[in-house]
Amino acid sequence: MSERVIPLVDQRVASLPAHVPAKPIPTTGLLGDALGRPLRDLRISVTDRCNFRCSYCMPKDVFDKDYPYLPHSALLTFEEITRLARLFAAHGVRKLRLTGGEPLLRKNIEILIEQLAGLRTVDGLPLDLTLTTNGSLLTRKARALKAAGLHRVTVSLDGLDDAVFRRMNDVDFPVADVLEGIEAAREAGLGPIKVNMVVKRGTNEHEIVRMARHFKGSGIVLRFIEYMDVGATNGWRMDEVMPSAEVVAMIHRELPLVQLDPAAPGETAERWGYADGTGEIGVISSVTQAFCRDCNRARLSTEGKLYLCLFASQGHDLRTLLRSGATDQDIASAIGAIWQGREDRYSELRASLPPDDGQGVRRVEMSYIGG
Ligand code: GTP
Ligand code: 5AD
Ligand code: SF4
Ligand code: SF4
Repeated sequence: MSERVIPLVDQRVASLPAHVPAKPIPTTGLLGDALGRPLRDLRISVTDRCNFRCSYCMPKDVFDKDYPYLPHSALLTFEEITRLARLFAAHGVRKLRLTGGEPLLRKNIEILIEQLAGLRTVDGLPLDLTLTTNGSLLTRKARALKAAGLHRVTVSLDGLDDAVFRRMNDVDFPVADVLEGIEAAREAGLGPIKVNMVVKRGTNEHEIVRMARHFKGSGIVLRFIEYMDVGATNGWRMDEVMPSAEVVAMIHRELPLVQLDPAAPGETAERWGYADGTGEIGVISSVTQAFCRDCNRARLSTEGKLYLCLFASQGHDLRTLLRSGATDQDIASAIGAIWQGREDRYSELRASLPPDDGQGVRRVEMSYIGG
């Protein structure tokens, strides 16, 4: 394998400020960005570490023992996260997703969940509180997560064949343990459970129908994700992307499908139901069918930077503002101004952008801002 050149400019050092605008921005829940998109979904990364080394996310040759993970002092505290989440909710956020890295590696995550479970939307409803995990720690933690107030989980699983799965997580983790974790989540009542499978052509496409059969009729929604050019380290190539249309056709040949309406505006997944009424699958087609038009997702990095797009190079530094003694109104106004200026729509523009040659500012890694 050719050696990858990692530029010295670290996206975590370069950041954009979070200014408090001269005119306060009220928290009406009606905030819109420059393209008229509301703010509804906040994804919070609670750690940049993971116990897996999926090659499409944290390739082993980059994320090795010398990788400069964030020190503990750089992380937002639970109180800081909850304060920000409350202000985001006041601007219209209705869903919180905890991510990582692997969020269950963050110590005492249950305490954060308890705090977040107390938040309310502008309409006084609890927020949809969910978490994306690789499932490795679920058997141990599912019950405590539920007790803390987590509603549901989404588990990443790239295949059922043990050898394929061990190769993809690249730490020799057995598939049986993830399946056991999913079962534990179900028993704990952390549903509706979703399972996300990243499809890489030449690596796991033969697992597609097998996965569909396995989860059909289980009540678990399996979603197939196109391998994305996120970050700057995974050596992404278009020929390894399997378009969702092919995934759907492949399943449809064996297990007939009918297209379903979207459950909510701005959703990532297109829904397909089994014609025999035994459940549904989803496909997430960021590469072949961009869904930026209604993108209502904001991302908060582990150290408190606000990213407006999964493919952004820089985030707005909310931590400095938090730690400067700013008032809630100041911080809410800063968040409001940042969102109002948002024009990001990377997936729609992908085809017309010059390729990332590693020389410019690097795109942020998914392990740092979360899926
Ligand atoms: P639900 O709340 O259960 O509907 O989940 P979701 O579809 O909002 O989020 P989830 O984290 O399950 O997203 C699944 C995958 O879709 C992620 O792991 C990413 O690979 C991809 N994804 C999520 N959000 C975006 C986005 O805004 N842009 C792009 N390009 N991909 C995204
Ligand atoms: N392409 C598509 N999805 C990815 N994820 C991470 N890296 C990629 C990528 N390059 C998603 C996986 C995983 C979640 C945490 O992030 O779905 O389940
Ligand atoms: Fe870890 Fe998830 Fe990234 Fe895999 S995709 S390395 S499990 S954060
Ligand atoms: Fe949203 Fe950026 Fe993804 Fe488009 S590419 S859907 S703007 S996060």
